[in-house]
Amino acid sequence: MTRAWWRDAVTYEIYPRAFADGNGDGVGDLPGATARLGHLAHLGVDSVWITPFYPSPLADGGYDIADHTGVAADLGTPADFDALVTAAHALGLKVLVDVVPNHTSDHHPWFQRALKDGAARDRYLFRPGRGTHGELPPNDWQSAFGGPAWTRITEPDGTPGPWYLHLHAPEQPDLDWRHPEVVSDFERILVHWLDRGVDGFRVDVAHALFKADGLPDAGPGQHRDAHRNHLMPYYDQPELHPLFRTWRTLLDEHPAPAGAVAPRERVLVAEAGIFDRERLARYVAPGEMQQIFNFAFLECPWDGRAMREVVERSAQGMAAVGAPVTWVLSSHDAVRPVTRYGGGPTGARRARAAALLMLALPGAAYVYQGEELGLPQAHVPDDRIQDPQWERSGHTERGRDGCRVPLPWKGTEPPYGFGESAPGACWFPQPADWAAYTVAEQDGDPDSMLTLYRIALRARRAHPAADGPPRVEGPADGSWFAVARSDELTCLVNFGTEAVELDASAEVVLASAPLDGRRVPTDTAVWITPKEKQQ
Ligand code: GLC
Repeated sequence: MTRAWWRDAVTYEIYPRAFADGNGDGVGDLPGATARLGHLAHLGVDSVWITPFYPSPLADGGYDIADHTGVAADLGTPADFDALVTAAHALGLKVLVDVVPNHTSDHHPWFQRALKDGAARDRYLFRPGRGTHGELPPNDWQSAFGGPAWTRITEPDGTPGPWYLHLHAPEQPDLDWRHPEVVSDFERILVHWLDRGVDGFRVDVAHALFKADGLPDAGPGQHRDAHRNHLMPYYDQPELHPLFRTWRTLLDEHPAPAGAVAPRERVLVAEAGIFDRERLARYVAPGEMQQIFNFAFLECPWDGRAMREVVERSAQGMAAVGAPVTWVLSSHDAVRPVTRYGGGPTGARRARAAALLMLALPGAAYVYQGEELGLPQAHVPDDRIQDPQWERSGHTERGRDGCRVPLPWKGTEPPYGFGESAPGACWFPQPADWAAYTVAEQDGDPDSMLTLYRIALRARRAHPAADGPPRVEGPADGSWFAVARSDELTCLVNFGTEAVELDASAEVVLASAPLDGRRVPTDTAVWITPKEKQQ
């Protein structure tokens, strides 16, 4: 039996407005992405995930959707989407899209109707306020972006009305998943995209869809420690699992569109901010989703002991339900690894080592656009910030825009081949010192991050992972550890301050930095074969 494609697939995340600009208006778009799919095929990934490209007022980077089956006018047309899918499939790349079921845009016709008509409110979570005149929010829930998770509406006749729940921005009202039409509408949305040939869905804030009965208070410290998320009355409710099982059945049973290249197993990947390993594993138990992002890996600091623990415990947690670990180092929501690991040459060196670690680990992996170029987090000037966290935090949190700056493709100054736009018209301004990061500059440079990713992705395919949790070894102080991908390939990462001497029998396949003879310097990863590292 061949192994299902998604078990060890590497998926490349495209944030379309910042990926490639096809029409030169400064905003990335679907035709631009289609034209650059060759970059991804050359990189060596298996699959592409495109973040929301649906019509949206952009209160939260497109995660506020006004029409779930449309294409945003600035990104292209439905035909452009079809062309992207066809071109990706022709290159052997699968295509995943986002489904955002927790909330809609406040511009969505469902919410617009609810604002005007009290009888049309039960798709959302409208509740009367507390206090003598309903002037206080219905409970103490906080938005993940800061501030209360409730906003009060004004009735069409000008009187103060009830409050509605929004776990994110006020422009993202939460749907009520206990309403049968919400369930059936999302089935229709899934079918719409399956019929357009997609190979799966990334399920946005999958852990938030159901809220505990009676909407009880959540208590102090909400969103302060993500490791407590599963205890919140608005996260990780038991009703999620039967719902996702029906989605899986739908994906498994809905016929492939006419003319599909070959029947393929379609995939659901959960984005769920849950850190309790057993609770996390439930999302990928047999019959439910296939993948769930392992954010513990992304959030782990550059520390050998902590990294080793995340690797071992994640692998055990997923093995308990027979699911692969889905490794991830970056996304459109996270500070870029180069910056997170210390910035400058040290951060870059560690990001290279982390990439080799991730790509050696058994399981699936996601690579976020620009990660393969080693881009640092960019500074977005105050007057260009779009992330709602900026306003919601009273200008203390800059938010996520710094990892959503358009990719540099070629040339020595902005917009670095990103369309033809003048720098001022660019989706976000690009730093003036990114000439060394362009794809053109890194292409063919044996020492570039791009070359490292290309070689690693090929070597990874040539060395399939063994089944089961990997063997990990190394000293208790965490200065280094070695993790076996298979009997043939081991990745050793040196987190310590001293070089690590390789065993004489070990043959080096790939290294994230030059070795000193057989000595692996600090902040360096090597892939070696055969498996053993001995001191
Ligand atoms: C997910 C998305 C993030 C968005 C949020 C609300 O976490 O990745 O970008 O802001 O959901 O939809």
